Amino acid sequence: MRKQYIILAFLLLVVGCVHTEKRIEPIPSEEFLVIAHRGASAYAPEHTLLAYEIAQQAEATYIEIDLQMTEDGVLVAMHDEKVDRTTDGTGFVKEYTLKELKLLNAGEWFNNEYPGLANEEFEDVSIPTLEEIFIHFGSEVNYYIEMKSPGIYDEMEEKLIALLKQYNLIYVDKGLPKVIIESFNEDSLVKIHQLEPRLPLIKLFSFKEEAALSVQDYNRLNTYASGIGVNISSVDKHFIREVQQNGLQIHLYSVNDETELKKTLNLKANGVFTNIPNIAVELLKQQIE
Ligand code: G3P
Ligand code: CA
Repeated sequence: MRKQYIILAFLLLVVGCVHTEKRIEPIPSEEFLVIAHRGASAYAPEHTLLAYEIAQQAEATYIEIDLQMTEDGVLVAMHDEKVDRTTDGTGFVKEYTLKELKLLNAGEWFNNEYPGLANEEFEDVSIPTLEEIFIHFGSEVNYYIEMKSPGIYDEMEEKLIALLKQYNLIYVDKGLPKVIIESFNEDSLVKIHQLEPRLPLIKLFSFKEEAALSVQDYNRLNTYASGIGVNISSVDKHFIREVQQNGLQIHLYSVNDETELKKTLNLKANGVFTNIPNIAVELLKQQIE
């Protein structure tokens, strides 16, 4: 009798171990995703509410948000670790409190850089927090959020998940996940998968030459990721097919020209990052007609 209990206990242990392998949240492959890269950033200053509104009006499938964090631990939408390129300030985001960061002008640079697209509305815009974006758009849009430099910020993953839960954004809406998380940083993605397996994850890659992944890469990716994001210059149809045959989605970045977008749509990937989401949506409609 004692022997049976030991065997039973051992079996339960094994089953328990197997079952800790967390389920990978799928991203339906039927729909081709138009991901508004930093918002509709060809028409308005990147990572501003205005750029996201234009993306929403263009019916982009997702608005893409790059995340940084302030000195006082607030998640804000910004691509660079420094504020120099897209504001009238200088220095690292992590050296600003939110109050200080909010004093920076995050739109004037766009009017100076693109006089042909200049707009008074861009003269007085600030850097939005992730929370302000959620309050502004709620569940009206889908969010594709990049953990840009998780290695330099404490508990960035926990803060992001807490905010997503606070605004009830972790669910599937009309067949699509309301939120997708992306990063070049695998450790950060694995951590998010452990903390909140309902979030679909995209591992970003930037290949200098031709894109290539090993069997080990695919095995590792399939323990946490729903797909990968790859620079368009490194891929061809074969690599795209190979990724899909290994059970992963593939999203291509970034395609900001109509002719290139047409070619990209023919590659049969699962999504594209673009600064001109309106054009991509239009081309997709034409393809369907
Ligand atoms: O996130 C996909 C693509 O946007 C990666 O490049 O530098 O624009 O964030 P980056
Ligand atoms: Ca990005």
